[in-house]
Amino acid sequence: MKDTMSSTSTESKKSDFGLIGLAVMGQNLVLNVESRGFQVSVFNRTTDKTDEFVAKNPGKKLVGCDTLEAFVQSLALPRKIQIMVKAGAPVDQVIEQLIPLLDKDDIVIDGGNSLYTDTERRDAYLAGKGLRFVGAGVSGGEEGARKGPAIMPGGPASTWEVMKPIFESIAAKVDGEPCVIHIGPGGAGHYVKMIHNGIEYGDMQLICEAYSLFKAAGFTTDEMAAIFNEWNEGDLQSYLIQITGKALEQKDPETGNALVDMILDKAGQKGTGQWTLINAAEQAIVISTINAAVEARVLSSQKKQRVVASKLLQGPKPAFSIEKKALVDKVHDALYASKVVSYTQGFDLIKTMGEKKQWGLDLGGIASIWRGGCIIRARFLNRITDAYRNDKALTNLMLDPFFQDLLNSTQQNWREVVAMAVSNGIPVPAFGASLAYYDSYRAERLPANLLQAQRDFFGAHTYERVDKPEGQFFHTAWPEVIG
Ligand code: 6PG
Repeated sequence: MKDTMSSTSTESKKSDFGLIGLAVMGQNLVLNVESRGFQVSVFNRTTDKTDEFVAKNPGKKLVGCDTLEAFVQSLALPRKIQIMVKAGAPVDQVIEQLIPLLDKDDIVIDGGNSLYTDTERRDAYLAGKGLRFVGAGVSGGEEGARKGPAIMPGGPASTWEVMKPIFESIAAKVDGEPCVIHIGPGGAGHYVKMIHNGIEYGDMQLICEAYSLFKAAGFTTDEMAAIFNEWNEGDLQSYLIQITGKALEQKDPETGNALVDMILDKAGQKGTGQWTLINAAEQAIVISTINAAVEARVLSSQKKQRVVASKLLQGPKPAFSIEKKALVDKVHDALYASKVVSYTQGFDLIKTMGEKKQWGLDLGGIASIWRGGCIIRARFLNRITDAYRNDKALTNLMLDPFFQDLLNSTQQNWREVVAMAVSNGIPVPAFGASLAYYDSYRAERLPANLLQAQRDFFGAHTYERVDKPEGQFFHTAWPEVIG
């Protein structure tokens, strides 16, 4: 074992926390934990990286370990070991190596973006060995990890009391409240992080659609930067709006152009958005805004096909007959209203899964820890926190009085923006999907009556009637169709 402290102090003191995996997030988390007064042991598969990291941070309460055995032995009981390695098989490999070295009740924390079903499997597996597992979603990127992320830990309730002092001290703070709560048992923490990421996809796409409209309407990149900077002072204040303003201001050193104009329009994705869609489909919950956001990334990645199609398939030539200021105000409302729908859908999915799994989720608590540290941190999460704290059984976020008023006052501008985009041939899949959800949800009568007729026609699937009690089913002898 190597260390950066005097040998007497490390001999007498075991570390409070251990971390395996010194990639960027891991390193920043270690420095964060250490800066709050904890002694941290670190281990990395490539030992050079451990030595380098420890050498780069002299005088800190760090214990660099060359072997997993030494690492485990350097930790105080019950051990608290956070794994920060690539999600998937690497997490299982590290767990397998750790198991024979650990003592009963030690805690293994997976801080990566793991699929929540993997977390459930690992939770059960380690519990069977007398160990405790915490699947913890950690959001905030590199800077968040160093200065204060939002943390979404799941796992056995007994782990929370042990982990609370560390988690609460390293998490971001909003109004003095740490951005961490115990989310629930098993895979609840990673599940909520997955939905956080789905919502992140939605937020990002909505911002891109606003940008796309402004660009088509002839705004310069500097004008657009100014709009996002101004929006960041108001209702839309959020980290993603803030970085959008900054990204638009950035110039390309090679060409002097706005850097965004030099970036290829092909979006990447690592999979958490797709996982969210799969889960929503399984639960039969509509998350059309997030869906549109994931699909927009997919279509963007088909750049070659789009270039061919752009020469073959026609559309209108964009022409905007609206004052710039009026357009900005309308797009603001479309973005805000769509964002409300996106969060409504995300929370609906969390609520549904939480009830099904009996996770005992605190929706207000989840909204409150997303107010700081994480990528989707935003002022309006205060409103969502209030909505669920005022009414724990709220069926749909749009029905909260604040959000009702907000949607009622923005819906006209919102639909004008969608109409303008459609008539100019500008794709706004997330604005449009959000509006369709809003209009469907508020529709007393939908055309599903005809759909039921069709089902009964070809498959005798039966239907209920408007003039008979619910639960009574009818079948009609429809005319025979020839050919
Ligand atoms: C966070 C982010 C982080 C990461 C995701 C999304 O909360 O800090 O969500 O987890 O950015 O991996 O990445 P993709 O856009 O590549 O799917």
